[in-house]
Amino acid sequence: MLTKIYNIKYLVTYDDDRNDVVIQTPKNIIIKDDKIDSVNFKDIDYEADYEINANNALLSPGFIDSHTHLIFASNRADDFSKRISGQSYIDIANSGGGIKSSINSFRKTSKEEILKDCEKKIPFFLKNGTTTIEVKSGYGLSLEDELKSLNIIKELNEKFDVDLVSTFMGAHDFPPEIKDKNSYVDLICNEMIPEVSSKNLAEFCDVFCEQGYFDIEQTLKISQCAHDYNLKMKLHADEFNDSGAAFIAGEIKAVSADHLMQANESGLRNMSKNNVIATILPGTTLFLGMRTYANARKMIDLGCDVAVASDYNPGSNTIYSIPSVMALATLYCGLTINEVFKAVTFNAAKALNRSHVLGMIKKDYIADILFWDINSISEIPYWFNADRITSVIKNGKLVFQNEIN
Ligand code: NIG
Ligand code: FE
Repeated sequence: MLTKIYNIKYLVTYDDDRNDVVIQTPKNIIIKDDKIDSVNFKDIDYEADYEINANNALLSPGFIDSHTHLIFASNRADDFSKRISGQSYIDIANSGGGIKSSINSFRKTSKEEILKDCEKKIPFFLKNGTTTIEVKSGYGLSLEDELKSLNIIKELNEKFDVDLVSTFMGAHDFPPEIKDKNSYVDLICNEMIPEVSSKNLAEFCDVFCEQGYFDIEQTLKISQCAHDYNLKMKLHADEFNDSGAAFIAGEIKAVSADHLMQANESGLRNMSKNNVIATILPGTTLFLGMRTYANARKMIDLGCDVAVASDYNPGSNTIYSIPSVMALATLYCGLTINEVFKAVTFNAAKALNRSHVLGMIKKDYIADILFWDINSISEIPYWFNADRITSVIKNGKLVFQNEIN
């Protein structure tokens, strides 16, 4: 099927040939099935099966949220109340709240109930411009419950237009029933990773490498096992303390290291040297009421490619709107407008190993396109919310139209 988009004000995309964000004024864009067939600057008459009037919209690539924990059973508003009365994320975790309380509720809730609840969330991401979402397991922490989580991701992916990319995160915390931490690492390596891999339920493996969670040695062991089973690595690195996780991300050639609020310079240099994408999650810093944002300016100056993602989860951040986290990344992390735009499109695609098909509006790329009632991309973080999105095309199909427009 051929679809023609016409009446375009501007097309704004990162362009890897020019190594910059470019503003173009094409006459039309032709989509063939789910891919961009051509971006045309002359008004050639195409026999399209379907025509879309962009109504003078600015067009951008769909956003890629490369870090979420979308699959959970119950909310943690009580953690939030404790935080505003002065307790820290770590204090709450140490007193039985935090990730452990999410594990408890996840295990007790049926797969069907969790699936039903998650189904309500996906359309919110889409309306906010997110067309691809990385989703982590990690609230099950037993073989059976981690498989439950990953199977929910699989079913959601089959059911919705939005594409979900699956990450196994059995190493999110230690489950309450284990006697010693290393025996849980053995369970991850000997049972969970082989099973996840043989069922083809995940593409990435993530470890919370942080004081009080997984130490460097345990992280290296899990990473080696993930490598043996063809899962690519991501790390939650140096979120609350500098534990040298950014450096380790470089050593293991992780695809990305995420958070990095406390990462040290030699760690960032090692990430840059080994092409590890530095993913910052400023929504989490805000939501935790913390003051130290990740220094993305320094990361870029050291040669890292920076991606920006939401980290949507029930505990440390419920913000899923990419325009909102773009605003935070520009206000507090030192990114320019062009850098933040590249960070949620092309670099976010890199953080999911998909920059050959996602993150740009370009021939042969997947046709994931946002239509905006704005004049320049600086208005994306400026309006903070995503209410200026008038339509969304996903895999070549018109999947959302804002009623107001
Ligand atoms: O990325 N830091 C670890 N994981 C999440 C928080 C998950 C939770 O609190 O439930 C994060 O912030
Ligand atoms: Fe996270």
